[in-house]
Amino acid sequence: MAKADGGLALVRLVERQDSLWDGGAPLWLNPLPDAAGLVPAFAGFAQRLDHARQQGIPFGEWFVPEKPVPAAIVTMSKGKERAQFLLSMAAAAVAPGGLLALVGETRLGIRSATQLFAELGLEAGKLAHGGHGALWAATVNKPVLAPVFPEGWESVFDGPAGLRLCALPGVFASGRLDDATAILLGTLESAGPLDGRKVLDFGCGCGVITAFAVQGGASVTAVDVDALALAATKRTLALNGLEATVLASDGLSDVTGSFDLILSNPPFHDGASVDLGVAERFFADAKQRLKRGGRLRIVANRFLPYREPIERAFGAVVTVYEDTRFQVLEAVNAVPARRP
Ligand SMILES: C[S@@+](CC[C@H](N)C(=O)[O-])C[C@H]1O[C@@H](n2cnc3c(N)ncnc32)[C@H](O)[C@@H]1O
Repeated sequence: MAKADGGLALVRLVERQDSLWDGGAPLWLNPLPDAAGLVPAFAGFAQRLDHARQQGIPFGEWFVPEKPVPAAIVTMSKGKERAQFLLSMAAAAVAPGGLLALVGETRLGIRSATQLFAELGLEAGKLAHGGHGALWAATVNKPVLAPVFPEGWESVFDGPAGLRLCALPGVFASGRLDDATAILLGTLESAGPLDGRKVLDFGCGCGVITAFAVQGGASVTAVDVDALALAATKRTLALNGLEATVLASDGLSDVTGSFDLILSNPPFHDGASVDLGVAERFFADAKQRLKRGGRLRIVANRFLPYREPIERAFGAVVTVYEDTRFQVLEAVNAVPARRP
């Protein structure tokens, strides 16, 4: 998502295009964060819980308006697959003769706009550029049929311990088990038996950690801020005949109860930039969600400075595993020492 001044400039690009507003309120999928209050009314929909809440718009993985819309705008997202997914969803919502627009930053790949439109059989032209990005649009002259969600968008790939995992567009590690996640799972034996324990999987992505822990006998709560990640986790569970609680949450905002074990391969990106804020907030909040003696165990690239914030929250941090690329860190919600 665009931020600060660049974001504002992109919002202005959209606002100035009369053709997008003339027919009535357009639909805007994943609106730029600065859009609310700055542009005329639009029907918004967001796939990130935090963005939906900030803008007071519906949250979900797939959106079908009650009736076709005069125009639809899509904000470019990181990764061609997710952008194609959003553009298809928006194209299917546009009334015949209506306009489909794609706005976004150069660093997120807006230059591939013509190709993204072409895959839907649409010919796009650049309406405007500025703010390190551009706005492209095409007239939707004949109906575009989007594949049914989720069946038409998912693929299945092999995970650890015989698990089958669901890949959806733009969900982390879709199509291939992430090396760091594999390392984290490989260390779990030393965290004690999973059987009968309450586990929280923070940033569940396609649900690989969740499915692994449920298969080991744990009762698992999986959380993610991205609706498509939650959909992928539910499909992964269904594919393997497993059950867990799958919750939308921004950080631990919507998590209640306390856990024996919190597991995560925490996010360190926001769009195209490195952002350690989510992970740091998660470390600070994790202790409140652990039972006495409960453990936080995370995997991260070695270059990420996570020891210090974990130590600050828990008082101590232990390296469970490290190699040239990754580290697995653990902290325990220590039982206070008994007074003599
Ligand atoms: C590195 S991926 C890990 C995915 C999965 N656990 C795995 O190991 O393959 C991090 C996940 O954190 C999610 N995430 C990012 N920001 C978040 C936030 N504020 N709250 C909850 N989850 C978030 C992302 O959507 C992504 O699915």
